Amino acid sequence: MSQHADAEQLPGPDGYPVVGSFLQFRRDPFAFYDDLREYGGVVGYRMFGYDMCSVLDPDAVEDVLLHEAEAFEKPDMLSESLDGYMSEGVLLTEGEQWRAQRELLQPMFYRERVETYGDLMAGYAADAAADWAADGQIDVQSAASDLTLRILARTLFDIDLSERVDVIREFADAVREIGRAGSLETQLPDWVPLPSRRRHRRAFERFDAALEEIIEERRAKLGNADTSENNGEPDDLLSLLLAAEYPDASTPSDTEIRDQLMTFLFAGHDTTSLALTWAFVLLNRRPETCERLQTEVDGVLADGQAGVSDLADLQYTDWVAKEVLRLRPPAGALFRDTVEDVELGGYRVPEGTMVVLPQFAVQTDPRFFDDPETFRPERWADGLEDDIPDYAYFPFGGGPRHCIGMRFAAMELRLALATIAASVDVEVQNPDVDPDLGTPFEPAEDVLAVVTER
Ligand code: HEM
Repeated sequence: MSQHADAEQLPGPDGYPVVGSFLQFRRDPFAFYDDLREYGGVVGYRMFGYDMCSVLDPDAVEDVLLHEAEAFEKPDMLSESLDGYMSEGVLLTEGEQWRAQRELLQPMFYRERVETYGDLMAGYAADAAADWAADGQIDVQSAASDLTLRILARTLFDIDLSERVDVIREFADAVREIGRAGSLETQLPDWVPLPSRRRHRRAFERFDAALEEIIEERRAKLGNADTSENNGEPDDLLSLLLAAEYPDASTPSDTEIRDQLMTFLFAGHDTTSLALTWAFVLLNRRPETCERLQTEVDGVLADGQAGVSDLADLQYTDWVAKEVLRLRPPAGALFRDTVEDVELGGYRVPEGTMVVLPQFAVQTDPRFFDDPETFRPERWADGLEDDIPDYAYFPFGGGPRHCIGMRFAAMELRLALATIAASVDVEVQNPDVDPDLGTPFEPAEDVLAVVTER
């Protein structure tokens, strides 16, 4: 008998036969989660025959990500719909394989290491701001994605991506489109010849070929190099992977190296660029926040470019970044499958249930955030973080599988925002743009801005 036999059955809506609650969810995920709140903090429902459970209570979120983490795995669904690409990367692996990968990669993300990237990050942001002003008008999401991709490629892979930006963008778009709530590709079996499936496969293949070239170029370079310069220590992520040996003396396969590169190129740029995009949207929605940000950077930055040593004085910038990640968390929602029965919030969640942690719903819970839908950076002023439960705000996830790039992203976001705000005005033309209902972390339409030098 299960050790959770005393726990109660999950409360939740009945939904329709077959599709369950899918239609309500697809119509408006925000309203769907609002309605779920009526049932409590841990709610069960069905979609297409799958048992689902949404966790809206911060303590139960903490149980999933931290205390009971062993009872959960990442769902196979994403990896399957990506044709297996990225499945050997640290975002999707499990168990011993994941642990060994995480240990190998972790030193690249220690604070001291990440701080050495500060000048590069701000330098690229300053160049981007100058280019934007020269162009006069930008599509904010693609301009921000260009910037974060350049930063990532240079800092982690020491490569210049100018010729490959399009291939990577196509891949990232494909991953996002597949991940859309209710995308046909995740619902219909593999053999159904959807046009989008063909297009996405082509994008994967082109990206795969570009990565192979990058790996071969580096192998050739390492083969020729005099490694004595840095004591033979690899000094970027790509060299680290190529030289890696696990504790059991095995080395990463070519597929694993490719999947890691894909993982970092995807997870490492798309998220931060979405945060930057929403930052400009939200700042434009309340002009006084924009003015306050500019007043701060004018007072703090000596030469118009932010550095790591400025971060402690960039307090309002910090609140802006926090508030953007609260209201528009770039990951949107986290997903897990239960691999055993587990108790959450006093209810029994059976093995084989897909558990959803909707960040955008938890982080707008009126019990913890006043006027939760309003962008109000100053809400972070008086120690809000100490007053709310730990997992009422978790834009970078939590527990052992929290975002490995958290420090990198948090620093990049602040340095880029401050540097850009110091030199240009970014006037978003459609600041009322809503989140997309399919991928609630993305804008529903292109975000256009007029950029002028200050
Ligand atoms: C604002 C920017 C970012 C946000 C909001 C974000 C968010 C997240 C979240 C929520 C997770 C956990 C996913 C889960 O538990 O299912 C995660 C994992 C991860 N993130 Fe980030 N991320 C950001 C930037 C980055 C950057 C810059 C990198 C790399 C340079 C990165 C690399 C990763 C990796 C590799 C994982 C998987 C970690 C593991 O499972 O061990 N992320 N991220």
